[in-house]
Amino acid sequence: MVLIRSILLILIFELEINSSSMGNPQTIWYNAEKKLVETMDQRYLPFQNRIVGIATLDEARTAITDMIVRGAPLIGVTAAYGMYLAARDFYGTNFSVEMKEAADRLKSSRPTAVNLAFAVDEAFSVISEEHSVAENAGRLFEYAEMLKDREIDFSKNIGHFGLELIKEISIKKNGEPVQILTHCNAGRLATVELGTATAPMYLAHEAKIPIHVWVDETRPRNQGARLTAWELGEAGIPHTVIPDNTGGHLMQHGMVDLVIVGSDRTTLNGDVANKIGTYLKALAAADNRIPFYVALPSTSIDWDLNDGVTEIPIEQRDGREVSVMEGLHDNQIHEFRMIPEKTRVANYGFDVTPARLVTGLITERGICKSSREGILKLFPEKKTIDD
Ligand code: MRU
Repeated sequence: MVLIRSILLILIFELEINSSSMGNPQTIWYNAEKKLVETMDQRYLPFQNRIVGIATLDEARTAITDMIVRGAPLIGVTAAYGMYLAARDFYGTNFSVEMKEAADRLKSSRPTAVNLAFAVDEAFSVISEEHSVAENAGRLFEYAEMLKDREIDFSKNIGHFGLELIKEISIKKNGEPVQILTHCNAGRLATVELGTATAPMYLAHEAKIPIHVWVDETRPRNQGARLTAWELGEAGIPHTVIPDNTGGHLMQHGMVDLVIVGSDRTTLNGDVANKIGTYLKALAAADNRIPFYVALPSTSIDWDLNDGVTEIPIEQRDGREVSVMEGLHDNQIHEFRMIPEKTRVANYGFDVTPARLVTGLITERGICKSSREGILKLFPEKKTIDD
C-alpha cells in the first residue's frame, strides 16, 4: 500500500526550487535581501533540491529537529544563526534572560552532536550587557559567519591531511583505485563545504588519484544512499551504494583499503559517537586489519567527557523512521510501510566506537592517535593541570 505524502509535505518556510544543484558549494548562507538564512532542505534530496528560508529562532530549531539540516558541523552553524535571529527579533524586556532561554531551546533540539552546544555556548559568550540589543545582534551575526568560515577551513585542512593517507595507499596499489568505505553522510551536506570524511575524497579526486567509495546506505534515514550518493555523484566521484550489512563481506575479500567516517561527538579519550552502525564497521575493519579513520573538526570533540559508551547521550528518534521508507514513484515522493502494522520498533540514532578500534583521528591540525595523549598533542591548550 502506497501512502501518498508527495510534495504536499508540510512546508513551514518560504520555499523555492533550486535548479542548479551545485551552483553554490555552501550548504547555508545569509540572504541579506530577504533578511533570512537559507539552506538546502535535505529531507527532499536526492529527489528534489529545495532551498528553504529560516527566518526565526523557532524555524532554526525546527530545521534541526526535523533534519532539514543535519550533520554535526551544519547543525552547529544553523544554531549559531538561530541565536542571531533570536537577538534580531528581540522585543522583550530582559535580553540576557531571553537569550539564555533561546540558547537552551536550541541546545535541546538534538542531543548527540556536541557541535550544537559548542556553537550555542560560544555564541552566548559574545553577548555583553555593555552593548545594545542591536549591537549584540550584530556580534551574533558576525559570530555565525565566523563559525561558518572556520568550519570551511577545518574541512579543507581535514581534506589535506586525509589526502596523504589516500596518496600512500594509491602508491602501494600502483594507481589502482583506492577503495574507501564510508557510513552515513559526513559530506558537504553535513558541513558547510567539502565535508569531513568526504573532504579527502574530494581532494583525491581533484588530484586525479583514482578512488572508489563504498557508500553504506545507512538505515533508517538512508543518509548514505540519499545524500552521500547524491553529492559524490554531483562531484563525479565513482561510488557504489551498499546495504548496511555488506561492509564486512567486502573487507574479508580485500575490497576495502580504508574506512573514513565522521563523528557527532568524540570524547577526550578518543571514543567516537557517530551514526548507528559505525561501531559494527569498526569491528569488521579491526578483524580484517583495515585502517579505520574518523575525520572530525575539533568542534566535534567533547573536552569534558571521557568514556563515550556511558557518557555520550544517544538520540532516540521516532519509530516511523524505521517502519516507513520514502521513495520516488511517478515523479512524486511516496512513503512505504516496511513492517507489519503495530510492530514495535527501536530507533537509536548513534552508537559509540571505542577508541581502541579507531586507527586515527583526522583533524584540522593533523592526524593523531585516538587517545587522550594523541588528542592533547594536537590541542595542547586543552591540557589541564592533571595532564
Ligand atoms: O543524524 P545525522 O544525519 O545528523 O547524523 C550525521 C552523522 O552521523 C555524521 O556522520 C556526523 O554528524 C558527522 S558530519 C561531518
